Amino acid sequence: MPPSATRLNSAADIALEPPERDEQPDSNLAHLLPSIELRNVSFRYAEGEPWILRNANFLIEAGESVAVTGPSGAGKSTLLKIALGLLKPCEGEVLFGAMPVRQLGLANFRRQIGTVMQEDTLLTGSLAENIAFFDVQPDQARLESCAKLAQLHDDIVRMPMGYQTLVGDLGSGLSGGQKQRLLLARAL
Ligand SMILES: Nc1ncnc2c1ncn2[C@@H]1O[C@H](COP(=O)(O)OP(=O)(O)OP(=O)(O)O)[C@@H](O)[C@H]1O
Ligand SMILES: [Mg+2]
Repeated sequence: MPPSATRLNSAADIALEPPERDEQPDSNLAHLLPSIELRNVSFRYAEGEPWILRNANFLIEAGESVAVTGPSGAGKSTLLKIALGLLKPCEGEVLFGAMPVRQLGLANFRRQIGTVMQEDTLLTGSLAENIAFFDVQPDQARLESCAKLAQLHDDIVRMPMGYQTLVGDLGSGLSGGQKQRLLLARAL
């Protein structure tokens, strides 16, 4: 069973999970047209567990917007995590710009994508830190332009502490929509 296919339940599981291996050298993939393709992908979380995907094939062309629908538990989040390289397919492969992600390198691939997942959370810190995801050298102009794109900037500047407003365990609450827009700004 690949290490990425285990269910993580506790801090110990995270601490004991072997580090992800990514042996491809750094390279900039900005020249690739950002299509995402799954070829003959099968996936289950562990041996003996039911298959969530069996021989899944699809191609999302650059510029396309695609919605995946299905009942709760059908495998939509699993499918997305595979397409993002967060879970490794048991069979088949994922391609980005018609190149296997395996060859491109996960770190290189991830620099080309941004996501907001169902269970993403805010961490204790300021709005600015949460948007820049605790980057040690945040770029304030970029951060604000992402907050503007996510329609969050105006809400933030209306707060007395602005971008320094604390959120997460320590800070004031945000509305559900503000939280979603913050996660969108972070992804951008
Ligand atoms: N980490 C995991 N380990 C083992 N099984 C899992 C894990 N995550 C999800 N599953 C199982 O895989 C199946 C698909 O789950 P998934 O989260 O992909 O569904 P979903 O379509 O996104 O559902 P929802 O609409 O409720 O978000 C479910 O039966 C779920 O119980
Ligand atoms: Mg889901």
